[in-house]
Amino acid sequence: MMIRLTHLATISLCSFSAFTVESFHVGSTFRLSKGASLYAKSPLPDAASKEETAVVEPKLDVTPAAEAVSTIAEAIEAIPETMDEGVFKFNKHLIDTVYDVICFLYPVKGNERDFARFFVLETVARVPYFAYLSCLHLQETFGVRYPNMSDRMRTHYAEADNELHHLLIQESLGGNSNPVDRVLAQTMAFFYYWYVIAIYTWNEAAAYHLSELIEDHAFDTYSNFLKNHEDFLKSKPVPDIARKYYEEENPFLFDLYCTVKDDPECPLDEQSSVCSSRRPNLETLYDVFVCIRDDEKEHWKTLCNLVQFNEMNAVSAKDVKSTVPAPSESA
Ligand SMILES: [Fe+2]
Ligand SMILES: [Fe+2]
Repeated sequence: MMIRLTHLATISLCSFSAFTVESFHVGSTFRLSKGASLYAKSPLPDAASKEETAVVEPKLDVTPAAEAVSTIAEAIEAIPETMDEGVFKFNKHLIDTVYDVICFLYPVKGNERDFARFFVLETVARVPYFAYLSCLHLQETFGVRYPNMSDRMRTHYAEADNELHHLLIQESLGGNSNPVDRVLAQTMAFFYYWYVIAIYTWNEAAAYHLSELIEDHAFDTYSNFLKNHEDFLKSKPVPDIARKYYEEENPFLFDLYCTVKDDPECPLDEQSSVCSSRRPNLETLYDVFVCIRDDEKEHWKTLCNLVQFNEMNAVSAKDVKSTVPAPSESA
């Protein structure tokens, strides 16, 4: 009996492993075929793709016909991916519902209680970045490799670290002082983590789209709060954790998540140190909230690129647009 059970467990484990590896390889194949067409048109290719471009650059006689084909191909490739309408609507409905529930439970009043609302939002909104990272680590373990995979993993780590600091700032303001808020936020985060893992394994673009929608809400939330409660925020000091993160620490991780540059004309070797870098000067809590709002915008830009181009920096800041659903076939 014991032998039969052991045999059954071994078969189950092998089947699961084979399925998992095969799933990741299918996902990887899709990503590579989609990404390969995008490298050529990316105005800001990363280091790995630059090397690839340099190695394969052909020295051919380019005829007018070849140029025309190339131009047409580039025009086709420049069109961002749209999202399946069903997936788009489901993601939007899900995120809007969760956001509305949080807004209902935590109405903005312009006092200390608002930090609990931001604590809950930040606890949930940071989950996807380490869920993406978990999936990528597991894919890596199963042998999946593609040119900019490490860059993507580093960026997701930097994004998670950035969101962690948003959370720490809200905690330093007392946002987590009520156990009911903590239980609610952490329960939502637990289930959302596993949901994102499942969606990322099935369809990476759909999982990135979930966060694109969340970051859009987050940017609007912080923008409105800054606009409506400026005096309240300016009356409060800068938390130590904010000063440490935004002013004192090594800015390497801080810059790493700013993948979408403001100025496409900026030379590649200066982009990380000049174009999108922010070195804030914090005087009050208002300045801290400006930084958090701008961080959310950076995350949103990266996510739009990932959803639409499967790249972190395919288009520059001025060209980034929200993902749209695929037009219906009857239209
Ligand atoms: Fe955040
Ligand atoms: Fe965020």
